[in-house]
Amino acid sequence: MTTLTIGSWSQLGIQASQVRTAVFVHEQNIPAEMEWDVADQTAVHAVICNAQEEPVATGRLLVHAPGVGRIGRMAVLSHLRGSGLGQLVLEALVQAARERGHTEVCLHAQTSAQGFYERLGFTPRGEVVAEVGIPHIEMFLDIGQ
Ligand SMILES: CC(C)(COP(=O)(O)OP(=O)(O)OC[C@H]1O[C@@H](n2cnc3c(N)ncnc32)[C@H](O)[C@@H]1OP(=O)(O)O)[C@@H](O)C(=O)NCCC(=O)NCCS
Repeated sequence: MTTLTIGSWSQLGIQASQVRTAVFVHEQNIPAEMEWDVADQTAVHAVICNAQEEPVATGRLLVHAPGVGRIGRMAVLSHLRGSGLGQLVLEALVQAARERGHTEVCLHAQTSAQGFYERLGFTPRGEVVAEVGIPHIEMFLDIGQ
């Protein structure tokens, strides 16, 4: 059994940090100082906890431009990947974007995760670029009502 919660950094920051530290800092070797930014303070965060109330998956939604949300920091603990948790986080953040009246959601996908986002309706846009040494591609989803 899992529980998904949407909330602010003050509500979910400790749990989100645990997952992001495990996935981005320890697994992907992204420098810790690049993982944390001021955007966390204003973002909408999603966290999934397991039955033991341990955080296992996370992601965040920022305002990118008027009417446009930006999803980022999507992470699922490695031993739980492929069981639908990432999809639950992504769908919850897209729904949060709809509720905020956004008409588009964009994100910078690691190219290794491009297929994950495409399955959920995102379309690539532009060229592959390296960020913190990892190839990324911009992707977007039209959620205009
Ligand atoms: C990308 C990530 C968040 C996906 O989470 P997940 O829980 O493994 O994904 P899900 O189980 O919800 O997968 C949903 C669907 O996408 C597919 N999928 C998952 N990862 C995929 C990938 N990397 N490429 C292509 N398809 C993928 C699954 O097979 C599943 O399809 P199905 O419904 O037909 O079975 C997770 O792999 C992760 O944390 N990766 C490391 C951090 C990372 O790269 N984050 C993304 C930064 S942009």
